[in-house]
Amino acid sequence: MSPNPPPIVVAIDGPAASGKSTTAKRVAATLGFRHVDSGSIYRAATAATLRREPDSARWTEALVLEAAQSVTLEPGAGTFHPRLDGRAVDEELRGTAVTSRVSLIAGMPGVRRWANGMVRGAAAGHAVVCDGRDMGTVVFPAAAVKVFLVADPAERARRRVLERVGRAPTEAEVAAEVEALLRRDALDERQTQRAADAELIDTTHLNQDEQVARIVALARKASRG
Ligand code: DC
Repeated sequence: MSPNPPPIVVAIDGPAASGKSTTAKRVAATLGFRHVDSGSIYRAATAATLRREPDSARWTEALVLEAAQSVTLEPGAGTFHPRLDGRAVDEELRGTAVTSRVSLIAGMPGVRRWANGMVRGAAAGHAVVCDGRDMGTVVFPAAAVKVFLVADPAERARRRVLERVGRAPTEAEVAAEVEALLRRDALDERQTQRAADAELIDTTHLNQDEQVARIVALARKASRG
């Protein structure tokens, strides 16, 4: 009898606001896979560290790793939610205090090893869709499906503002958001890696349904072998 093949991993990487997490969640729901948002793990470690030491100029890798011990991942409807000391913190993780500091800790090698362990632990033994910056390169180099999502900065900014304010953004709002996104791209550049065998999908002119359908089709093809 041949052993069961390992469960399928769909790795979705790309820069900030490229639509990774929303797309990954919907792909996972369509396929009945687990979803792991690795960015939320870095955000949770940042929120945990802020509670210990509000002045991020004093953060060391040892402090972040100690604070990160309070982070757990709670399986929820369709995705994992990070908790701090057992408490839900989803809104705090999206706030500016966390967003403006998370790149700082994402550049620490020990923190990356810790986060990778959390992602692999959540994925273990399950078919998963994982999204982040290095899922297809460092965390799951043998993933059956690898996708790298890109989109024009102006389109990424438009989507981000629309999500935040719930209406069509003004030109000035888009311009300000483009600046913020490009700053984050520069900070995350080293961590954001496209695997040589990743399918590049430019979502500038695709809607959510089309993005999801493209990746679901790749996953179905991979699972047929
Ligand atoms: O995708 P996001 O905006 O939630 O990611 C938050 C931060 O974590 C961002 O600075 C990039 C970083 N990150 C990373 O370095 N590696 C990952 N696999 C996921 C996120």
